[in-house]
Order: sequence, then structure tokens, then C-alpha cells
Amino acid sequence: MNTPDHDPEGLRPHSYDGIQEYDKRLPNWWLFTLYGAIIFSIGYWAYFHWTGHIQDGWVRVQGQIDALKLAAAGNSAAPEGRKLWEMSREPEVVAAGEKTFMSTCAACHGADLKGGIGQNLSDASWVHGGTPSEIYTTITQGVLDKGMPSWGPLLGAQRISELVAFVISKNPTIAEPSE
Ligand code: HEC
Repeated sequence: MNTPDHDPEGLRPHSYDGIQEYDKRLPNWWLFTLYGAIIFSIGYWAYFHWTGHIQDGWVRVQGQIDALKLAAAGNSAAPEGRKLWEMSREPEVVAAGEKTFMSTCAACHGADLKGGIGQNLSDASWVHGGTPSEIYTTITQGVLDKGMPSWGPLLGAQRISELVAFVISKNPTIAEPSE
């Protein structure tokens, strides 16, 4: 048997059931893999947590679900007041709005917009604001405790924009927004 302590090959002193082991330097390729993995993990950790470029799978899925919900509810960004005003000068848009108004809104607001169960929409007095954007918001959200349904989920952004265009076209007191 070798004298383990002074073995030039580095045989270690212990022996288990007669099995001994060398104490050899780990090969470089192995060390490179180990240290490389450690360095990569630090870099990856910092990149992941500090830059936010890599999104968690669940966060991505949640983002897509939210986007779909928004699209389904028709709550995509409300058009600018100015855009709604311009739509009110386009006869096809106004005609589309009128059609929806007669089938959906006239029962409460009157075919002439002069009101009934709901407010007069053809004069200068407004409870929830009379700018195109405010009217858009009121129609989208409704005034549930006063009996005005929330139309956003039912009609969507496009048809509500047409409705606002129609109301503007019928109400000479609504001022043209500067932006
Ligand atoms: C079931 C009846 C009903 C229907 C249908 C209805 N509304 Fe209303 N609406 C109301 C009531 C009631 C109010 C008043 C809410 C309040 O007093 O705060 C109102 C308020 C409004 C206002 C705010 C008026 C203001 O003075 O600020 C707008 C704009 C409006 N409705 C538009 C519409 C449009 C457009 C539709 C069709 C998509 C519609 N409404 C359908 C009942 C209705």
C-alpha cells in the first residue's frame, strides 16, 4: 500500500472499506463551467430584476388577458374630444350614431333628444359635463344609481364615439374643443 500522506499523485489519507481517493485538481473545462454558470447567474439575475426586459410567463399571460378583457369591454382608449367633434361633422358617422340612438337611447332621452326618463341632451344644461369627452365618459360608464345604464361593455368605443358625434351634431351649444 502507498503511504497516503506523501503520495506524489495526491492520494488522500482516508480509506473507506479499502477505497481511497486522489485529491486531484479539477480540470479547467469543469471549473470554467462552474464559474461561468455563477457569473452568468449574477448577470441574469441583475438583468431580470433590474431591467424588467424579461417578463415572467404569468405576467405575460395576465397582460394578454387584461388586453382581451379591455377589447371585449370596448374600453379601448377614449378618442380625444377634438376627434369626436370632427366625427360629428361626418354625415356617415352621425347617421350611424343616430341609428344606435334611436334603437338604444331614444326610449329614455327622446327621439328629439329633448329628454324623458333621461336628461335633455339637446340643450346647454348638463349634469355630468357637456364637453365631447365628458359625454363620451358618461355614456361609457353610465350613471347607475340614477338609471342610466353603463353602455361601454355593450356598445364598445366605436359605437359610443358615433353616439357622441350624433349628440354633438344635434346640440348647437356644445363648443368645439381646442384639442
Ligand atoms: C333606461 C333609460 C336610459 C337609457 C336607455 C339611456 N339613458 Fe342616458 N340617462 C338616463 C338617465 C336617468 C340619466 C340621468 C342621470 C343623472 O341624472 O345623473 C341619463 C343621463 C345621460 C347623459 C348625461 C346627461 C347630462 O346631463 O350629463 C348622457 C350623455 C346620456 N344619458 C346618454 C345616453 C345615450 C347615448 C344612451 C344610449 C346609448 C342613453 N343615454 C340611454 C337614462 C337612460
